[in-house]
Amino acid sequence: MTTTTGAPSATTAEIGGIGHSIKRKEDDRFIHGQGRYLDDHVLPGMLHLALLRSPLPHARIVKIDTSEAEALPGVVACVTGEALAAHGLAWMPTLSGDTQAVLATDKVRFQGQEVVGVVAESPYVAWDALELIDVEYDALPTIIDPKAALEDGAALIRDDKEGQTDNSCYQWEAGDKATTDQAFAAADKVVSIDTHYPRSHPAPLETCGCIADLDPVTGQATIYMTSQAPHAIRTLFAMVAGLPEENIRVISPDIGGGFGNKVPIYPGYVVATAASLLIGKPVKWVETRTENLISTGFARDYHMHAELALKNDGQMLGLKVDMVSDNGAFYADAQPSKFKAGLFHVCTGSYNFPAAHVVTKGAYTNKAPGGVAYRCSFRITEAAYLIERLVQNAAYELGIDPAELRTKNFIRPDQFPYHSPTGFVYDSGDYDAALQKALDAIGYAGIAKEKEEARKEGKLVGVGISSFTEAVGAGPSKDYDIAGIKMFDSAELRVHPTGKAILKLGSRHQGQGHETTYAQIVASELGIPAADITVREGDTDNTPYGLGTYGSRSTPTSGAAAAVIARQLREKSRKIAAHLLEASEDDLDWEPGKFVVKGAPDRSVTIQDVALAAYTNYPDGTEPGLEGVHYYDPPNLTYPFGSYAAVIEIDEETGQWKTRRMVAVDDCGVRINPMIVEGQLHGGLAEGFAMSSMQFITFDEDGNCIGSNFTDYLIPTSWETPRFELGETVTPCPHHPIGAKGVGESATVGSPAAWVNAVIDALAPTGVRNIDMPVTPARVWEAMQGAKAG
Ligand code: CDP
Repeated sequence: MTTTTGAPSATTAEIGGIGHSIKRKEDDRFIHGQGRYLDDHVLPGMLHLALLRSPLPHARIVKIDTSEAEALPGVVACVTGEALAAHGLAWMPTLSGDTQAVLATDKVRFQGQEVVGVVAESPYVAWDALELIDVEYDALPTIIDPKAALEDGAALIRDDKEGQTDNSCYQWEAGDKATTDQAFAAADKVVSIDTHYPRSHPAPLETCGCIADLDPVTGQATIYMTSQAPHAIRTLFAMVAGLPEENIRVISPDIGGGFGNKVPIYPGYVVATAASLLIGKPVKWVETRTENLISTGFARDYHMHAELALKNDGQMLGLKVDMVSDNGAFYADAQPSKFKAGLFHVCTGSYNFPAAHVVTKGAYTNKAPGGVAYRCSFRITEAAYLIERLVQNAAYELGIDPAELRTKNFIRPDQFPYHSPTGFVYDSGDYDAALQKALDAIGYAGIAKEKEEARKEGKLVGVGISSFTEAVGAGPSKDYDIAGIKMFDSAELRVHPTGKAILKLGSRHQGQGHETTYAQIVASELGIPAADITVREGDTDNTPYGLGTYGSRSTPTSGAAAAVIARQLREKSRKIAAHLLEASEDDLDWEPGKFVVKGAPDRSVTIQDVALAAYTNYPDGTEPGLEGVHYYDPPNLTYPFGSYAAVIEIDEETGQWKTRRMVAVDDCGVRINPMIVEGQLHGGLAEGFAMSSMQFITFDEDGNCIGSNFTDYLIPTSWETPRFELGETVTPCPHHPIGAKGVGESATVGSPAAWVNAVIDALAPTGVRNIDMPVTPARVWEAMQGAKAG
């Protein structure tokens, strides 16, 4: 096995390997309207499922009457929780080891919870039939505030769980309390912040859905599903439904965006599968936009308190964090089993903290479950936001420039591998280089003057910095598993006799461009043009086992597997080339795409010659063919980082603010396709901007979801999205075969703090130290009035 790290050899534009900004291969079919998404699939005899959802956030179910609905022509069956209970399917396990109702039997616990499924010959009949179902509810007190949920005497939400006497769903800690207390005792100054990272929703363009097709004769179950992790879903389905795993085939067709929303198992998938099993016909379920927003995997909703202990000269001594997460009615977060609050304990960020202690508590509330990694690696967005807001405030309290305070405390390049006080081992980085690049680009030295000039026009200008570090690419499997399944990933590569290739992976892209970038990895390693390499993902019968695509894990895991298997095939190719050239293997030099006899440049064979020979003229004792599979268990996470700097202006009269500049300097190690990386960053910046300024889901005191449609839940369009300027530094990952780190979500993780810090910076002279996201004009105006009032 060859897993040595090394800079990939340069390839020609024709080969199009690593470093070439080739156009995305998959876009041809997407921009021609030829993508095949879930709803494009129509199977013979297919029925349609619609779900009746609870209008109340917390209520006991007194009675369910489906008789009128069942009598509607075209209705095939009404499925209730009681019917599912008869098959042991009324409840299902969640990815966090909790249980979740598939269809409610005892009570409903959030507005929008699934209560009855109607299967009909058309989706319209199924939806009409929902109107005819009569459910009698007995309303119960609603809890929407997680801190109130944890108070003594709060109404018990999870009375279904034996031994559950309160609304606590987990309590967890990381770091060392005693050393952190000591560090605080030695501090000249302690700066604190209380902030809320609001509930948000990934809102992918395509909502969730599935078609379950269980053949009653063969017992074969084919499930088409909008899943970011089809292999893991197949295993969990086998475990939950008791179906033999070899009979289950999960196919994730083209997916119109996932952002973490398509990782969990949703009740609709289970009801459709159960209905297909019982009826013997394919059953399709596709969510509406509102169903997606009110019931599937939300993100964030962290109430965070943090304290930073410092010396007067700015040296950071310790960090204390106390956090309450709102997990909704079922603890269904998509995160590694071992870590109850995801990787939130990476909240020491880019700084060299001698000590840190993080306490996290989770509360059940009457809201939808989820806690998915929305364009972040398992809760890292919240962590990055918290530390970057806190450091900015510390700078004001100490009277030190925020950039200088960061530089003073960054983990230095010579400290890597760096052991963080909460248990991470950062691989590499040069944080100050990225920061200085961002500061230079934004003209930091001239900001004071810019502020002064703006002041004359009634504008308050502020500059905000965010220097974040992420931890992405789970495994290693020794530390990371989802519901017991270890986190690694895989690649299977076959070079055909004509020298073209097919690469199959355990990951599943939802728009990230894997069909292009993975082909580029193989192109670099084997010299076969990327255009000649087909990449396949998403069909469990036809790809090797893997944990899927989320949390920027694909490049660090399946991308690495692709490089390793390609190297293994290159080694085999060397044997065949030696045979063809009648030379010793050691006498062959490798140039991208061909083996050349040392000292005899006219004696060479191309990789295409070798591929043909692998099936027609291979040396004795060599296995025919040019094909292999590699399962890659990374030795560590990868640690991309960056520094973002935003300049904003606030209109004093209205509180309206707008972005003047946003510079994003990212370091994700070696970039496979720089254009795709930039696309990922632009998307992430747009989402980060939205979260800082307008995108959030809230609830009224009766538990009604405000944000159930795109009029209330404001996702960014090109109209409000500002211009971004990108920059890069390159610190190759020391343990990744091609030196790459993940990048898919860096900008969503890193950017919100930059914008909010910029707004706070503009208001800092008035003493304002925090405005919770989203920083709307109303909130800014209110903060300005508060500051004026004293
Ligand atoms: O897991 P996911 O694909 O969402 O995230 P990722 O591994 O960070 O990759 C996102 C996209 O950027 C993929 O197409 C990667 O191959 C590409 N990428 C790259 O070209 N260079 C990197 N250093 C990292 C990612």
